[in-house]
Amino acid sequence: MLDLNARELLTTTRSVRKRLDFSKPIARPLLEDCLELALQAPNGSNMNTWQWLIIDDPTTITSIASIYNAAMDDYVALLGDAVGENYMGADIPGFNKINQSVDYLRENLAKAPAVLIPLMSGRVENAGVFMQASSYGSIIQAVWSFFLALRSQGLGSAWTTAHLWREQELAELLDIPFDQYTQIGLFPIAYTIGTDFKPAYRKPVKEVLCWNHFNNS
Ligand SMILES: Cc1cc2nc3c(=O)[nH]c(=O)nc-3n(C[C@H](O)[C@H](O)[C@H](O)COP(=O)(O)O)c2cc1C
Repeated sequence: MLDLNARELLTTTRSVRKRLDFSKPIARPLLEDCLELALQAPNGSNMNTWQWLIIDDPTTITSIASIYNAAMDDYVALLGDAVGENYMGADIPGFNKINQSVDYLRENLAKAPAVLIPLMSGRVENAGVFMQASSYGSIIQAVWSFFLALRSQGLGSAWTTAHLWREQELAELLDIPFDQYTQIGLFPIAYTIGTDFKPAYRKPVKEVLCWNHFNNS
């Protein structure tokens, strides 16, 4: 267990890609304990309709990585290459570094000792905003708590959604009933190389917070 106070934990839990240690196995009870902590997150009416799939079979992870990479290709083909600025044309500090890190994960995902696929019950493609917000809100908080729990144990993950371009393909690989469950993302899990992480760039609060009335000027 790392000696991090709440402020340190909240400001240094990152999407880790280049500093995932793919050579070190992870004991299942440790991941089960992190999930137990994560499941304290709120979920609508406390229905607990989520399912959590952790894959630690290397052959299956290799197949998962192939799907992830093919889906990334789909995504890049759709958006074009982002060079020097992000896909939306915005200037994000460190964006080129993020791109290199994304590429690194693509090249190395097959070596991850474990991968988490959280599943929410139902499909919301055709649902209204209430149903979408309630459904995603009933699992995403637990996924982030899982990240915090991993970090507290010297482990890390990267939030990824790229594979969802090929969600059905992954469902078939992992025997997930596609019409009954929605995949939230794909989360490689590994010990981190070193445990010192820094707060990241975010827009300052004064640029994104308004009081009493909406005003984004
Ligand atoms: C909804 C969401 C989807 C993301 N999808 C991917 C992805 O498919 N592949 C990837 O390498 N990173 C993905 N990321 C990771 C972000 O690129 C990462 O959070 C960003 O580099 C900032 O890192 P930081 O949170 O450590 O500051 C995603 C993050 C979020 C929140």
